[in-house]
Amino acid sequence: MPDGTSATGEPLVRIRGAAKRFGALTVFENVDLDVHESEVVVLIGPSGAGKSTLLRCVNGLERLDGGTIDIGGERLGYRESALNRMRRHVGMVFQNFNLFPHMTVLGNVTCAPAKVARRPYREVEEEARGLLDKVGLADKCDVYPSSLSGGQRQRVAIARALAMHPRLMLFDEPTSALDPELVGEVLDVMRALAAEGMTMMIVTHEMRFARRVADRVVLVADGGIAEQGPPETVLDAPRTARARDFLRAVLEH
Ligand SMILES: Nc1ncnc2c1ncn2[C@@H]1O[C@H](COP(=O)(O)OP(=O)(O)OP(=O)(O)O)[C@@H](O)[C@H]1O
Ligand SMILES: [Mg+2]
Repeated sequence: MPDGTSATGEPLVRIRGAAKRFGALTVFENVDLDVHESEVVVLIGPSGAGKSTLLRCVNGLERLDGGTIDIGGERLGYRESALNRMRRHVGMVFQNFNLFPHMTVLGNVTCAPAKVARRPYREVEEEARGLLDKVGLADKCDVYPSSLSGGQRQRVAIARALAMHPRLMLFDEPTSALDPELVGEVLDVMRALAAEGMTMMIVTHEMRFARRVADRVVLVADGGIAEQGPPETVLDAPRTARARDFLRAVLEH
């Protein structure tokens, strides 16, 4: 993936005319979205609107039915070799942690850089310990995921994604499976990542987090992007009736 995309003003992620269908269901169409280097874009919207599907299209877990996605100036293709190359630069964190249960915390974090990127183990391990320290889990290197809390597991999942040196991080409701008292520790790690300049696309229902951390909020609804803009516009003074309806529903909930 070529570097220097920001120098040319090119977005890191450029989505044009994206369409996704499942059989007769059109999830979205005509989606245009740019994400620039170091930008934090928060996707919100009603259940079933296609937020997860859009993120999954960005890292090639789902295939578009129309339109294009470019990452770092490179067209997302669907041949295995191209997908694997692209995925090394795109980290994804899901709702349900997806850690390897038979590996220790350290094993989970070192696995991809050692095996997929084939970097020297000693270097990978040292960096993994540093990443686990960064997410507050330096003392958990040798335990198995089953002995961790949900918030700890999710922080391991973030460290594991970071170990591949991604240029882009995708988060799909990373806190929605957590007990309320564990949400903050995961959001704090994400906020620190944003402050370091990580480019992120985040699906979340945490409106306070969106308000504080998002550069841009994108409302996905009615088969496309219904509204987007800075959080103080989309969340506090939405221009569309669709956004007002959605926010009212969220607040009532
Ligand atoms: N693999 C699939 N096969 C068929 N339909 C699917 C598939 N994945 C998603 N869908 C449908 O596509 C639509 C969008 O789903 P998606 O999971 O992207 O929504 P979402 O915005 O992430 O919702 P939520 O907030 O509930 O997570 C839904 O109607 C869903 O049922
Ligand atoms: Mg979803």
